[in-house]
Amino acid sequence: METKIKNKEQTTIEEIEAQKQYIEKVKEINKNKKLKYSILTLGCQLNENDSEKLSGMIEQMGYERTEDFKDADLAIFNTCCVRENAEDRLFGKLGELKKIKEERGTIIAIGGCMMQEKHITKKIHESYPYVDIIFGTHTLHKVPEDINRILENQKRVEDILDIDGKVYEGLPIKRESNLKASVTIMYGCNNFCSYCIVPYVRGRERSRHPKDILEEVKNLAQEGYKEITLLGQNVNSYLVSENWKETGKEYNGINSFATLLKEINKIEGIERIRFISPHPKDFTDDVIESIATCDKVCKLIHLPLQSGSSKMLKVMNRKYTKESYLELVEKMKKRIPNLTLSTDIIVGFAGETEEDFEDTLDVVRKVGFEQVYMFIYSIREGTPGSKMENQVPEEIKHERFDKLKELVESQIEENNKKYVGTIQKVLIEGLSKNNKDMKAGRTDSNKVVIVEGPDEIINKVMDVKIVSEHMWYLKGEIV
Ligand code: SAH
Ligand code: SF4
Ligand code: F3S
Repeated sequence: METKIKNKEQTTIEEIEAQKQYIEKVKEINKNKKLKYSILTLGCQLNENDSEKLSGMIEQMGYERTEDFKDADLAIFNTCCVRENAEDRLFGKLGELKKIKEERGTIIAIGGCMMQEKHITKKIHESYPYVDIIFGTHTLHKVPEDINRILENQKRVEDILDIDGKVYEGLPIKRESNLKASVTIMYGCNNFCSYCIVPYVRGRERSRHPKDILEEVKNLAQEGYKEITLLGQNVNSYLVSENWKETGKEYNGINSFATLLKEINKIEGIERIRFISPHPKDFTDDVIESIATCDKVCKLIHLPLQSGSSKMLKVMNRKYTKESYLELVEKMKKRIPNLTLSTDIIVGFAGETEEDFEDTLDVVRKVGFEQVYMFIYSIREGTPGSKMENQVPEEIKHERFDKLKELVESQIEENNKKYVGTIQKVLIEGLSKNNKDMKAGRTDSNKVVIVEGPDEIINKVMDVKIVSEHMWYLKGEIV
């Protein structure tokens, strides 16, 4: 068993070494050419984190970032397929790029979740022959090799793996912020919620080794990062993956998400730890305990609800009920002082009746979420949901969405009032986008706060007295 694991590790290390050589090769070909790349990222923070890795590799190959696709010699799309609108955006952009490609010879590369769907790659084959590289979620690390192949022989490269990917360490990374950083702790998903495409395009759960995670966070702390967001489709099933069971190991006492949080909490320099997304079914007491006792772990917890109806939750394969969700919330509220909650909700999943929808509204009223990310159900080919016959008509989905939105907004307005007069710890992130004379930051509960103050307060956690509230931000004074 031991040797098997060793070999596996060696192969991924060797694979990354090979890619480093391709990076050097492409760098040599591109020497003195002052080439530019652009990258469009659709989808969730996991995709954004992947794009940071893509940018890291591409910049090492000698490309400089441009925000304008028209100036790009290499145009990358990192796609999402969780809902339909992402597809419309990709194909719209690809249409625009055709002319730019003709004028400039831009290399076009498309990767990410959507490329794991056969009907999409078929469409690209048939209708977008000018796309040079197609790569999937399991072959992201091979982009240097793909680019080298294009530069050497100009033939289209398709590099998609249907089987599960491995965990690759040691890729270069170019982060978007120098204050907040995302750290992926696990890849894939085993849950197969019946509406969701993610398990099909991201493969089974694979946890990163705690050693690699701790090393990454320690390096970030040394570089001056203050806030870390731990990422995964189901962060609280960390280590309960097939790969991990094989080894049955612990590392410095870490054998679960709860113990991982505790260790990261000890890393000096990091001020805030967030994580998304946990799954309510795996929200064990030890996780609640870690949140309560780790001072750096933010008390805003994202707890995806999806529906408030036990019947719908069963159809969705979520493995909890309305009652058990509410019980969990109560337990968390009791144990974690200053707890705030955010959530994801889907309206109009197959078979949702008015009564089911009322249950969702009921949970929203009872919990009082800080923020609700609301989605209209979008049928995803290949998921069980797409085969269900009792689909909800579009206009009813929209009506329900509007009703939910109204409730959520009125709750946020009410909730904002509670902040006025309180003192909040605010991590100041930089200048306010809308008023350059002000600085903007976020509370533990992720509310935007704007304040007046000198440049020196940027990157620091300040005590701020909230003086007024507005729908999407609070105004405060440094105390
Ligand atoms: N793993 C996370 C979230 C993954 S996708 C979790 O379980 O919470 C992010 C959100 O997109 C989901 O929480 C869900 O609310 C929404 N979503 C997923 N599939 C969808 C679909 N087919 N239509 C509409 N929304 C969807
Ligand atoms: Fe999708 Fe469910 Fe997995 Fe989240 S837990 S990624 S909603 S299948
Ligand atoms: Fe989208 Fe893939 Fe994330 S489908 S939501 S980018 S995991």
